[in-house]
Amino acid sequence: MSSLSGKDGPRIRHVADESEPCETIRLDKLTPIIGAELSGVDLAAPLSTRQFDEIHRALAENIVIFFRDQHITPTQHLAFGRRFGELHLHPAAPHEPGEPALMKIYTDKDSPRANGEGWHSDVSCDEEPPMGSILYIKQCPPHGGDTLFASMYAAYDALSDRMKAYLAGLTAIHDGDPVYRGLFANFGVADKPAYPCAEHPVVRTHPVTGKKALYVNRGFTHHIVGIPRDESDAILAYLYDHAENPLFQCRFRWTKNAIAFWDNRCAQHRAMWDYWPHTRSGNRVTIKGERPV
Ligand code: SIN
Repeated sequence: MSSLSGKDGPRIRHVADESEPCETIRLDKLTPIIGAELSGVDLAAPLSTRQFDEIHRALAENIVIFFRDQHITPTQHLAFGRRFGELHLHPAAPHEPGEPALMKIYTDKDSPRANGEGWHSDVSCDEEPPMGSILYIKQCPPHGGDTLFASMYAAYDALSDRMKAYLAGLTAIHDGDPVYRGLFANFGVADKPAYPCAEHPVVRTHPVTGKKALYVNRGFTHHIVGIPRDESDAILAYLYDHAENPLFQCRFRWTKNAIAFWDNRCAQHRAMWDYWPHTRSGNRVTIKGERPV
């Protein structure tokens, strides 16, 4: 991993700096390249078209956006997600009774693991992986339980031109089976006979911004297609280390009733489980996406 930062570090485009200011919502950026906290909006109330457009634009420009002190019901959480597209049903994770699109996020002192502990992009093993995820955390530990987010635009931009040329046109297999099999047994979820597995470009173009993003992750990516397996292992190991450079990241410190909304097409995230024996819980609503190109 590069240790360079500041003026000697990877050259990263600060796209959000060029944007128009929001008119109905206040936006405070967490870092120059990723993350913004939005305030002045109550997600329990119906969103005006203007508010919706500003939130959509804030997401496109900042990759992950955060809202604090929101008091929304499960129905309002689902409705907020539906403003952005059809809802995605997780192939394995537990959901609230009668609400298959309302995924449970729950870790306590008896949990064998926490969801999302390694760097990943949600369900990238789907043929059409989710566009975005909206996580509402209702119970927080006193300290810890942060979520880290990384810009895959920045990770791509910082690659050498030779590496970009090498990766152009390559695809990789993303396999859900090794990730999901047995993962949710502690919630009483029985395994399915098979989990999704899909082939996606190693570099994808974002359908809204038109920018290129690195699209391989430690969680799901199994191998690069059409090259020897040892070469694939080495290239993926390099790309994972490269993508985990803290220069590309922001870190969100949760407070009770906060919401994070991230774009899986250009972000990876990682949940920290550093709060045992405390409990952290909430729900995630996930929005369907398109086949990566
Ligand atoms: C996830 O959706 O991967 C979990 C993220 C978190 O709990 O912070």
